[in-house]
Amino acid sequence: MQFNASLSTGVRRSACAVIGVHDDGTIGGASRDARDEAVVGGLHRAGDFAGRLGDSLLLPEAAGRRLLLIGLGPKRTWSRRHYRRALKEAGSALVRCGADHAAIFFTAADVPDVDAYYRARYAAELAAASLYRIPDFKTGRKPRPSKLAQVTAVMGERADLAAARRGLDHGAALGVGQRLSRDLANLPGNVCTPTYLGNAAKRLARGQRRIKVRVLGAAEIKRLKMGSFLSVTRGSDEPPRLIVAEYRGATAAKAPIVLVGKGITFDTGGISLKDPPGMDEMKFDMSGAATVLGTLAALASAAAPVNVTVVVPTCENMPSGRATKPGDIVTSMSGQTIEVLNTDAEGRLILCDALTYSRRFKPSVVVDVATLTGACVIALGSHFSGLMSNDDDLAEALTEAGKRTGDPCWRLPLTEDYSEQLRSNFADLANIGGREAGAITAGAFLAKFADGLRWAHLDIAGTAYMTGAAKGSTGRPVSMLLDFCLNHGR
Ligand code: BES
Ligand code: MN
Ligand code: ZN
Repeated sequence: MQFNASLSTGVRRSACAVIGVHDDGTIGGASRDARDEAVVGGLHRAGDFAGRLGDSLLLPEAAGRRLLLIGLGPKRTWSRRHYRRALKEAGSALVRCGADHAAIFFTAADVPDVDAYYRARYAAELAAASLYRIPDFKTGRKPRPSKLAQVTAVMGERADLAAARRGLDHGAALGVGQRLSRDLANLPGNVCTPTYLGNAAKRLARGQRRIKVRVLGAAEIKRLKMGSFLSVTRGSDEPPRLIVAEYRGATAAKAPIVLVGKGITFDTGGISLKDPPGMDEMKFDMSGAATVLGTLAALASAAAPVNVTVVVPTCENMPSGRATKPGDIVTSMSGQTIEVLNTDAEGRLILCDALTYSRRFKPSVVVDVATLTGACVIALGSHFSGLMSNDDDLAEALTEAGKRTGDPCWRLPLTEDYSEQLRSNFADLANIGGREAGAITAGAFLAKFADGLRWAHLDIAGTAYMTGAAKGSTGRPVSMLLDFCLNHGR
């Protein structure tokens, strides 16, 4: 898809004009001319278009031209949220109507706390997302691919055009990263294995001078003494992988951001086996890995002037005669011993060794991303990712990036009170901390391996994918992490 920014006077007449209408019948942002205002006003008075958020109405015009009205809701509550919601509606209406070129006029609207850069970036992000199709395995005829090939974001002022073009570039790059992330996460566990993820990472480096990828196998993981990581893979016949992907957009001297992603390609719980209902969703347990690989793809696509290293420990968590058992004690790469009281708390066991490994890159910050706990879904639902950190500035930078992108996270406390719940009579620490504050004790476990690092943990168990009728990956939090990386150290 191609994106460009323009003043309303520069829009081609053949483009499907997408015009935003508030629920009082007034136009939000720009329109083509006074005739549009008359048409919209007339339809509103007649009760044919109320301008509620989520409303859309396609009007045929002469000679194959089209006008698409999008409801913006009340002016009083007009916000970033509603603006993004209206863009999403515009995207799906455009795909439905088969337009090949659309000009969105409500990108010219003032939105509280959203500048021209983000207005345009959201437009590109959500237009790209509207084209997304799940890589399904249905044997019937595939629906025709959408024709939408070009989107123009209309700006109100010439001074906004440069920022809008940058926003469109970044939004398009984000679209690339989100698509990769969603594709990987949506694939079933028998396709998206640790080996598959390793190959997907290698594919990223192809034709990309700035990306270097190494994929380590079981023997090398053993040599690194990642006893905690290896304890999780024991029950599986699929070999584990440790993926290391480096994007270098800045000078070599610049310390990288390290992003660590949980890559459990299927989580049965192991010997602490999960209940059957909904277990298929545990194919999404590599969403952290998908997120960090997607973020890397987006950074490369945006040619971002930053250094980012991605570390992905990936394996299956399976029961078998060789699997780790509750009570088993393992030695992590850091030397700390861990009593595995519950084999279903496996994410932290692979992440702790990856955190230790990340020290070799002398990172400026380390952020791990994981579908880590069901407790986080109970605490925050699907709206906010859980954030825990040992560094206030880093936590704030991530929180702000989440706000700016509409991909928010919420910080949870991480004090010694919680790490005390991880005491074990037999090892340095246990891998679970009881029923209370399950999301936080998981974070507290990881914190034991992040001593001296500027580190944050994102629990995306609630945000990475949707359940129910719309089951599938959301591509979160690629947007927030891309924004964080683009603004790091500025
Ligand atoms: N992958 C799960 C967490 C999860 C649960 C993600 C539900 C998405 C939806 C993780 O490995 C897990 O099983 N966590 C346990 C931890 C418990 C044993 C301390 C959990 O949340 O129940
Ligand atoms: Mn588990
Ligand atoms: Zn898991």
